Amino acid sequence: MDFSLRADHPSNTKTDVVAVAVHEGQKLSWAAQDIDKASKGALAAAVKAASFAGRAGAVLPLFNLTGVSAARVVVYGAGSGNALSAKDARATGRALASCAVELEQAELTVFPLAEGAVDAMQQMVLGVSDATYRFDETKGTSTKPKPALKRVRFGMPEAAAKAAPAALKNAVAMTHGIEFTKYLGNLPANHCTPTRLGDEAKKLAKSHGLKVTVMDRKAIEKLGMGSFLSVTNGSEEPPRFIVFEYSGGKKGDAPTVFVGKGVTFDTGGISLKPAGDMDHMKWDMSGAGTVFGVMKAVAELKPKQNIVGLVVACENMPSGRATKPGDVFKSMSGQTIEVLNTDAEGRLILCDALTYAERFKPKAVIDIATLTGACVVALGSHNAGLFASNDKLADDILAAGKKMNDRFWRMPLEEDYQEALNSNFADMANVAGREGGAITAACFLWRFTKKYDWAHLDIAGVAYKGSGKEKGATGRPVAALVDYVMASEK
Ligand code: BES
Ligand code: MN
Ligand code: ZN
Repeated sequence: MDFSLRADHPSNTKTDVVAVAVHEGQKLSWAAQDIDKASKGALAAAVKAASFAGRAGAVLPLFNLTGVSAARVVVYGAGSGNALSAKDARATGRALASCAVELEQAELTVFPLAEGAVDAMQQMVLGVSDATYRFDETKGTSTKPKPALKRVRFGMPEAAAKAAPAALKNAVAMTHGIEFTKYLGNLPANHCTPTRLGDEAKKLAKSHGLKVTVMDRKAIEKLGMGSFLSVTNGSEEPPRFIVFEYSGGKKGDAPTVFVGKGVTFDTGGISLKPAGDMDHMKWDMSGAGTVFGVMKAVAELKPKQNIVGLVVACENMPSGRATKPGDVFKSMSGQTIEVLNTDAEGRLILCDALTYAERFKPKAVIDIATLTGACVVALGSHNAGLFASNDKLADDILAAGKKMNDRFWRMPLEEDYQEALNSNFADMANVAGREGGAITAACFLWRFTKKYDWAHLDIAGVAYKGSGKEKGATGRPVAALVDYVMASEK
């Protein structure tokens, strides 16, 4: 999709579909007034005839308006306030894009409200991307025709004009990242193997000017990542450890490090999962997918910072060679782990990557993982779990999540929960009881992150929709993390 800004007045904008806002009570926005005047009151009359309520998220196509340069006019609801909320703006972007697709039009020009226009524009860009995203790589003959919509333009009110170009650029880069994250997530596990992730990493690095190192089993053994490798024992697919480096800052600037869980399929291993919905576990690499998406967006936006992306990729499979409950392994940190449940594998691969992260002397480390079903029970699918060892880091991530409507909810990280991980045979067990499962998982990781400020994002509930027409990866939380990076540019 091609997104751009344009300066013309709503009524003399030459475009296929022009979209303007109408508030509740059929009160016309500045842009709707402009078109109403040019059409000699036809817009207000049509809105009235259709009993358009102006509810946020609703759209209404109008036809045969004379005196207007655009071929078609669509009004969208602006609710009762002066600005659209992030959620409503996203829904509006989706609805307008779907409307343009339905009308088989190539170009849509949207005029935002005067207030909060820049933030709303960003959300509309994400909404358009959502509504026009297709995954057809693994469809055989039943591919649907691609939407005709090719270009979306924003006619910004004057007050917003100055901030608009940077905001648009950020949002467009977010959609590129999000769409890539969705693509990798939606690929089935027989396509999206650790090897494939390594190849995708090299491809991304080449096209986007990133440095990348893709390590194979031998290199991972050399690093002493015994905990990571314990998860790969049952799998025929070789593991990969991927290190992306983006250097936009000065040489010695401490980087932000993102770490992604890349379990390309999680059967549970010997602690086998039940069959129902097990296909969802192809999305168990969504943390890794998020790192790919963030690195892609960052490479496009070129912030003056250093950013590192680490991806730990493997399968979790049962077999005659697989890890058994009770087995003990030594992590890269030297701490030993008794694996009481082979299905708690995410923490086992992440802990070694978190130890590896120390070598960058990072400003902050943020891991992203579909780590626990318990987090889904606690928070559902609207907020991801956020655990942090530093309050400022937590607040910055929370703020970015709120702004991008890609939300997090802070959860406790407290020593009191650590006791449950005690083991008689190793330095720790990999699982505690059922209680507070998302918290004890975070506490496990915490033991490997003492040398830097750290946040852990449990995205098990938000990374994908597991059923229905929209079954698929969501690309969360790429938008929040890109905003987090770009917010520290100012
Ligand atoms: N990948 C799962 C977590 C998960 C569950 C992600 C549901 C998405 C949806 C993780 O590896 C796992 O299996 N966790 C276990 C931990 C338990 C054994 C302590 C869980 O949540 O049941
Ligand atoms: Mn598991
Ligand atoms: Zn898992």
